[in-house]
Formats: sequence, C-alpha cells, structure tokens
Amino acid sequence: MAIISSKKQPPEPNGQPQQRRESAKTAPKENILQPEAAIDEQGKQEESIRPQKFADYIGQKDLKDVLEIAIKAAKSRGEVLDHLLLYGPPGLGKTTMAMILASEMGVNYKITSAPALERPRDIVGLLVNLKPGDILFIDEIHRLSRMTEEILYPAMEDYRLDITVGKGSSARIRSLPLSKFTLVGATTRVGALTSPLRDRFGLIQKLRFYEVDELSKIVMRSSNLLQTNVTDDGASEIARRSRGTPRIANRLLKRVRDYAEVKSCTEINQSVAAEALQLFQVDPCGLDWTDRRMLSVIIEQFNGGPVGLETIAAATGEDTQTIEEVYEPYLMQIGYLSRTPRGRTATKAAYKHMGFTPPNEQMSLL
Ligand SMILES: Nc1ncnc2c1ncn2[C@@H]1O[C@H](COP(=O)(O)OP(=O)(O)O)[C@@H](O)[C@H]1O
Ligand SMILES: [Mg+2]
Repeated sequence: MAIISSKKQPPEPNGQPQQRRESAKTAPKENILQPEAAIDEQGKQEESIRPQKFADYIGQKDLKDVLEIAIKAAKSRGEVLDHLLLYGPPGLGKTTMAMILASEMGVNYKITSAPALERPRDIVGLLVNLKPGDILFIDEIHRLSRMTEEILYPAMEDYRLDITVGKGSSARIRSLPLSKFTLVGATTRVGALTSPLRDRFGLIQKLRFYEVDELSKIVMRSSNLLQTNVTDDGASEIARRSRGTPRIANRLLKRVRDYAEVKSCTEINQSVAAEALQLFQVDPCGLDWTDRRMLSVIIEQFNGGPVGLETIAAATGEDTQTIEEVYEPYLMQIGYLSRTPRGRTATKAAYKHMGFTPPNEQMSLL
C-alpha cells in the first residue's frame, strides 16, 4: 500500500478552524463519538479490522450491487473500472471500499488526499507512475486546487497528460499518454465538487448510515478479530449508540472491551456495554454534547424552530460546515431534526428524547 500523505489537513482558507478551537472551551475535550479517525486509529490494529473482501463489507447493499456488476463487466471486457465517486459522512466505509475494489480487481492502489496535491507536480508524479488498471484514490476530492483539477480532466477522460511547455506566446501544450487507470474520489461534500469534475465520474455512489442490525454484525465481526467475547445483545447495545457509523462502532467496542477487562467481566453483554458506555457519557441514541446542545437551543430558545444554521453554529461553537456534514445528517436520519427553507426545526421525537413535552401536546394539556 502506498500512503502518499497522512499529513493532517491544513486549515481551511476561510479560517473556520478558528471557531473549532474555541469550541474546545465549552464542549468536552475528547469526543468518542466523532466520526473522523483519531490519530491513534490509523495504526495496525485498525487495519486488521478493516474488511478486505466484498463478503466482509457489511451493509450498503445498493452500493455493493452496483459495484459488483461494474467489476464483473470490466473484468469480462478486460477493461479498467469506470471512475468512481463515493460520497457520504465520515466513517461509513469509503476508503475501505476503495481498497476492496483494488483487491477484487487484482490491481494496486495509491491513496492520497486533495490537500496533499497542492502543486501540479504532486498529481503529475502520481499519474505518470500508475500501472495499467491501477486505482488512484483521492480523499476529500472537493478540496482539489484548480490547477490539479485541470490536469485531471484529460487524464480521466483520455488517459492523457497535457503539459504546457514554455511561456507566453511560445507556450505549447505537449501531451503524454498515461496508463489506463481508475480514479476513486471520496468526499463528504458532493455539492462542493465542480460540475466538470463530477461529470467525469462514470459512477457516483452515496454511502448511507448503517442500520442497528448491520452495525451489530460489524461489532461481532470486529470482536472476533480482537478476540473479545461479545454477546448478541451486547453488540446491539454498542450498535445503537454508534450514530449509524462503523468507525464509531469499532471505537466504542474497544472502550467497552477495556472496561470489561478492568472489571474482570468474562463477556460483554448488554448490561456491561450499557454500563461502560454510560460511564463514557455516550447517550443511548449516540447523541453527543453538540447534538444535545443543538436540540436544546432549538427547543428551549427558539420554541422548536425554525432556527438558522449560523445561529446553531454560534450556539455550539462548531463551524457551519461541520454542523451540516456531521451533525445534521445523523439527527435527520434518526428523525430528530428537519431542515426547512426557513431553518432547522426539532421534531416531536427530539422533544421527548431531551425530556420536553412537544408543543402540540402542551396545548392539549391546557
Ligand atoms: N461496511 C463495513 N463493514 C465493516 N466494517 C466497516 C464497513 N465500513 C467501514 N468499516 C470500518 O469502519 C472504519 C472506517 O471506515 P473508512 O472506510 O475509513 O471510512 P471513510 O473513508 O468513509 O471515512 C474502517 O476501519 C472499517 O474497519
Ligand atoms: Mg476515509
């Protein structure tokens, strides 16, 4: 495996991380429900849990169906796989799927991420070294610089590299042929991709949040690999609190395993899992401090909404992008939040979860 860059991302040009830093003052420091990979989750143990084959990749049936057909067709024609764009919230299995594709196609892959491709020579270096059929995986592809993107257009379309030689009126474009390859792009923000780039992907696939039974299977699978004894109800207890996200499910499993070891429990059943996760302040639905703060601001200060995104961001100390990409999708998935043209509103279920009486029921109490 070639990891081109495992560098932390540079700050966004509009300075949003500034706000993030401030949020550390109010929100809990360590957030075990964060869907992004923590620094200590990029090691060997993490890789040992990551599924390597289609058969081990649990859930995402629609995605798997589409890709299995694409793989079979490409193999039978002896062609390379179409360029593929995977989008969806962090931790749902985009990188994993790219690696599985490479192994199913029997090709090599290179992993990089858009912030590591700042200068044109970064992408040129990668492209010229690709062998026929290779997969080039670009994470956070919505963050590509314009120059890099323009180099990618002919590379994706005609497997050609166009290089400008010379300057001013004597500038000429020279074309170099490239090996036929597959670009797999991943993004949490499909709307931020330019349309010429998006149009060059033959397959555009969305990853969705996982159901509790799918996450339970993932927990069971990981517990076998980690040689931990987890019962079915223990696995579903962990699954319910994992925000529909395999990365979080695996992380919670490890925390519960630590707890069980310290308490000398022989197995992780529902009560052990619940006790441990309560200790780590993981809410029974997987809500974290920011989710709860969002809902309580909407309910307590704005009578259930609608409330604008900026207001929610200010109240939680998160940036608007994180609220939109990480928090809102999950709250909408579990039916606690709706997005309306005038702003966000809290649903009846959210009122109940937060211990309030929904407004229409308040009326009937009068
Ligand atoms: N469908 C799946 N089945 C089993 N485990 C999964 C699945 N998808 C993701 N995982 C686990 O979750 C972790 C995070 O997945 P990853 O592909 O890195 O997410 P993303 O790239 O979308 O942020 C992986 O290490 C893997 O162990
Ligand atoms: Mg990833």
